[in-house]
Amino acid sequence: MAGGVGSRFWPVSTTEFPKQFHDMLGTGETLIQRTFSRLAKSVPTENIFILTNERYNDLVLSQLPEAKQRQVVTEPAMRNTAPCILYAALKIQKENPDAVMVVAPSDHWIEDEDAFSNNLNQCFEACTEKDILMTLGIQPAFPNTGYGYIQYDKGANGIKKVAQFTEKPDYNTAKQFISEGNYLWNAGIFIWSVNSIVKAFTEFQEEMTNLFAKGVSLYNTNKESEFITANYPLAENVSIDYAILEKATNVFVLPATFDWNDLGTWGSLYDKLDKTATKNAVVNARVLAVEATGNMIRTATDKIVVVDGLEDYIIVDKEEVLLIYPKKKEQDIKKVLKKVKDTY
Ligand code: GDD
Ligand code: MG
Repeated sequence: MAGGVGSRFWPVSTTEFPKQFHDMLGTGETLIQRTFSRLAKSVPTENIFILTNERYNDLVLSQLPEAKQRQVVTEPAMRNTAPCILYAALKIQKENPDAVMVVAPSDHWIEDEDAFSNNLNQCFEACTEKDILMTLGIQPAFPNTGYGYIQYDKGANGIKKVAQFTEKPDYNTAKQFISEGNYLWNAGIFIWSVNSIVKAFTEFQEEMTNLFAKGVSLYNTNKESEFITANYPLAENVSIDYAILEKATNVFVLPATFDWNDLGTWGSLYDKLDKTATKNAVVNARVLAVEATGNMIRTATDKIVVVDGLEDYIIVDKEEVLLIYPKKKEQDIKKVLKKVKDTY
């Protein structure tokens, strides 16, 4: 899934060029390139589909030379993750009714790719045998209100039955969940057979299922895009978490054995990057830090940056924009961006 905008990573991430198409980690590869190669260890490359808005079609093809046009599934409107997952599942089901699929975001940090592959293989096996919906769970570190929380049944080793899935609880609820102990964060990486997910959509999202199923005979033909252009925008704007996972009773979780980061904000990127001796995280720039520490510093090109007397700030330059913003208020960047757009 590569259709999100990543607005908290402004000014680098923009609607025209969202974060998944940027080299956020400064490794020489963009996030979507890293995601593609990570998944290619478990899935044949010709079976990897990139779900994205039609405006990013050429960007995807240029960044992923291994992917063919048929693998880029484009959406004429942004409707969040439920519609794009249903659409992809129906397309895959038409080609191979026995397929098991993994649905993954395009913008995560996962270092231990072998552990990731092992976890996926375990899930593939479970989903081939049973009519279940699987997700990977992460040990929660703090009451983050931007994640889904998975309450699992205590006792079992390995794959666990999910008692309750709660998408983005408020702070106090998240705190309560963490203190109870048997909760995991939802990594947003799902594994299921196409049959199980289509069945779940039929049960919990009848209208959306009817909408997309109406055109299923056209999928993978040259009439598909006409149908999608007319019908996709009619789908409800809802994420898979609210649409299916909170409602289904056959959800299972595998606690992940790899370190994971959602790379949702500048602060989460700071956490993942190597730090300089003065504890600043730096991408592209050459930094002279005097009394400056805890800063996330990124320039568009190689540039000398001098910082003195600044602690825990985000400093990001990009052609026409320079952002200097306290890390502790990073969640507000989305709102600030709106203000900038209204003002300039
Ligand atoms: N194709 C497509 N179309 N992709 C989309 C769309 C869309 O309309 N909207 C979002 N995406 C992509 C994003 O680019 C991202 O890769 C992925 O889908 C997840 O969307 P986010 O918007 O990043 O979701 P979130 O972070 O708020 O929440 C999800 O992920 C968390 C973990 O990172 C949920 O699954 C949470 O439960 C989970 O904890
Ligand atoms: Mg996210």
